[in-house]
Amino acid sequence: MQTVLSGIRPTGNLHLGNYFGAVRSFVEMQNNYNSYFFIADWHSLTTHPTPEDIRRSARTILAEYLACGIDPEKATIYIQSDVPEVLELYLYLNMNAYLGELERVTSFKEKVRKQPDNVNAGLLTYPTLMAADILIHKADKVPVGKDQEQNMEMARLFARRFNRIYNVEFFKEPESFHFSEKAVKVPGLDGSGKMGKSEGNAIYLKDDEATIKKKVMKAVTDAGPTEPNQEKPEPIANLFTMLEIVSSRETYDFFNEQYNTCQVRYGDLKKQLAADINTFCAPIRERINEYLSNTELLDRIARQGAEKAREHAAATLREVRQIIGFHA
Ligand code: TRP
Repeated sequence: MQTVLSGIRPTGNLHLGNYFGAVRSFVEMQNNYNSYFFIADWHSLTTHPTPEDIRRSARTILAEYLACGIDPEKATIYIQSDVPEVLELYLYLNMNAYLGELERVTSFKEKVRKQPDNVNAGLLTYPTLMAADILIHKADKVPVGKDQEQNMEMARLFARRFNRIYNVEFFKEPESFHFSEKAVKVPGLDGSGKMGKSEGNAIYLKDDEATIKKKVMKAVTDAGPTEPNQEKPEPIANLFTMLEIVSSRETYDFFNEQYNTCQVRYGDLKKQLAADINTFCAPIRERINEYLSNTELLDRIARQGAEKAREHAAATLREVRQIIGFHA
């Protein structure tokens, strides 16, 4: 069975974009792959050296993953900082990672611009830590967005280089896994682009009914169509995309017809959309809150995930040590 591995930095709550773009696919993947889903809390330190409550942020994502249906019996779900084996591989990979190539990484250059007073070595070696995350489990496939492609190329480069330097066929090159047609791009509510936490246009899985309603009612619209069957401008098309995702076929068709005959009332559309989003989110939200109120259970799940991950990581590491020439 192939291995799939995904990492997420615990920098906020999961939103509908995360759910339909990735997490829903993870729930399927856990049935067909040897799956690792982990929370990359060490990576957060590259930009936030003194995180407010990193343990809590990591556990929040954990609760949200579980609430979405990621099953700790099927997948290995863990928090990066619970698996210290990764750091040893990070060290070995860093010995064969060169300053020039690390400095050329676009996200590094971006961070240098954004945080000129904190251009730390962790930031520079972000791709090496990510490669260690991936290679320690010998992942075949890594679901990532386009923004991670360069980091994935580095991971493949480090895998090849390790093999070449030590004259082995040990690491395989991890493939980027783009979710293809299955991933639904959830639009933002601000009239353009896609949903994202930095965009401030997101509906979070944990949002309560009133919050959902408030956000949807504030979504950007226009003065309404003036001609029958007119093409929908982006903010309106986005609302219809949302309807397509969370509402019934009938609801979608109804408002589409109203739009095409220039009778649409955006207020009504938004009310319906907010109600349907709430219907979709309510059971997930309830489960999130249940998990969050049961820290004992969450801790146990995190511990068990870490145990499984450590066992597998340690096995890889034993071989790596042998290959380099240390005692196993
Ligand atoms: N860099 C990834 C991101 O920002 C998070 C991440 C860290 C990751 N380690 C990983 C993703 C390993 C996939 C595999 O989204």
